[in-house]
Amino acid sequence: MSTGLPETIVVLDFGSQYAQLIVRRVREQHVYSVLMPHDAPEDQVMALSPVGFILSGGPASVYDEGAPQLPPYVLRSGLPVLGICYGMQLLAHALGGKVAPSARREYGPAELYVNDLESPLWEGLPFSFPVWMSHGDAIAELPPGFQTLASTDNSPIAAMGQAERRIYGVQFHPEVAHTPLGKDIIRNFLYGVCGCLGTWTPESFIASTIASIRQQVGDERVIGALSGGVDSTVAATLVQRAIGDRLTCVFVDHGLLREGEAEATLRLLRERAGLNVIAVDASARFLAALAGVSDPEAKRRIIGETFIRVFEGEAAKLGQARFLLQGTLYPDVIESTTRETKAAARIKTHHNVGGLPSDLRFELVEPLKYLFKDEVREVGLALGLPPDIVHKQPFPGPGLAVRIIGEVTAERLATLRRADAIVREEIEAAGLGREVWQYFAVLTPVRSVGVMGDGRTYLNTVAVRAVTSLDGMTADWARLPYAVLARISNRIVNEVPGVNRVVYDISSKPPATIEWE
Ligand code: XMP
Repeated sequence: MSTGLPETIVVLDFGSQYAQLIVRRVREQHVYSVLMPHDAPEDQVMALSPVGFILSGGPASVYDEGAPQLPPYVLRSGLPVLGICYGMQLLAHALGGKVAPSARREYGPAELYVNDLESPLWEGLPFSFPVWMSHGDAIAELPPGFQTLASTDNSPIAAMGQAERRIYGVQFHPEVAHTPLGKDIIRNFLYGVCGCLGTWTPESFIASTIASIRQQVGDERVIGALSGGVDSTVAATLVQRAIGDRLTCVFVDHGLLREGEAEATLRLLRERAGLNVIAVDASARFLAALAGVSDPEAKRRIIGETFIRVFEGEAAKLGQARFLLQGTLYPDVIESTTRETKAAARIKTHHNVGGLPSDLRFELVEPLKYLFKDEVREVGLALGLPPDIVHKQPFPGPGLAVRIIGEVTAERLATLRRADAIVREEIEAAGLGREVWQYFAVLTPVRSVGVMGDGRTYLNTVAVRAVTSLDGMTADWARLPYAVLARISNRIVNEVPGVNRVVYDISSKPPATIEWE
């Protein structure tokens, strides 16, 4: 699917852990950006009609045998280039400068002193400011025609440039939060050096995506599984805007949703997002398939397979649809392209609610496959979707099954649902819903002795989990006020039959994960 977007910055990935971050920083400046492996074929890269290149950092040394090299088309293109860390060293090496191991490796914060205040890279920036360094090699000698643009105590050449050729290099990392003015440097490169116009906005994305969906789908029909989460809802809304009621959405209720969720989700999808949704209550089938199963991976597999069978049955009932809607996001695409750095991108299909298999004979429509999660939310808001969908907390595809440790039964589901509803009610009543990334209850298999009234009890333990996170990749346990925890605990033991103890999970991710299974 072509994005139809004019202004693209290609970030070439030389193995930096920050490569995705560079792409995000560029997009935050309203310029579209894509990440490509350093050894991607030239025609694939140039087909994107880039207006500039950013070369990422990387772990290698330019003199290492087999170290990734600067692809010749970068300089041949005559386009502006910004090399970051290893990217800068590659430029120096390729253009006749010298790279050598630094006398002292430099990791962490450093103060950068600007030598040439006239450089467009430093437009609007002070004479000195803190930057984040992480390198062993450094530029020992500038390439002919280049100027030193900035230094640190340990790196005499911490930034270099050649204004006529519009080639720049920085030894530090402008993309990380530890370089507080890094976004200004990236903006200067985009607007001051590449001459970007800033056309990447939710509105431009919506317009071009609707056009490309129309082109791809023609007069055919599309079906899609809708979970009610932000990705599938935004994806479906885009397709619906493009082709109207030739999109049919299937909402499979696997019976593993939270209290009241199936009804509320359907109402939102139909009445407020205006989608054409067929609802299937398959809860009995899922519960039967899960009977006697305790192993977390087995549960996930069973839920995934059952989901596919139910969806296939519905698709068959609906008749001919040539296309299948998927809510694949850009990080999934990047993951699959960087894993197979060579050849055309083989796209991993994102496994959401169990994951739809590749052997379903459909062509894929993936309107979000160039977006990061926060961009999906922005697009959702620009589409006019209600904030309760756009800011919904993430919920795992296998649902409450991965929050019940041990066997999933109707009774244990009922217990967890009640406890979970209390956790959500109290956190939302305290006005903490937006601050906390995810908050929920887990039903543990631990039973412990308690006393209620004058009698002994021997009942279940519920764990409360609440985490803060930016992307779900790392997380910390939320420092919920004691008063909120006290209310949650008190209400759960009083209102949920079968529970006499509540514990709060104070593990961060890593080493724990957010979900217990
Ligand atoms: P973990 O437990 O791996 O979770 O720290 C990270 C984030 O992913 C969510 N999650 C899932 N989402 N299908 C999904 O769509 C799944 O199978 C799944 N498992 C975990 C989890 O809720 C958290 O936001």
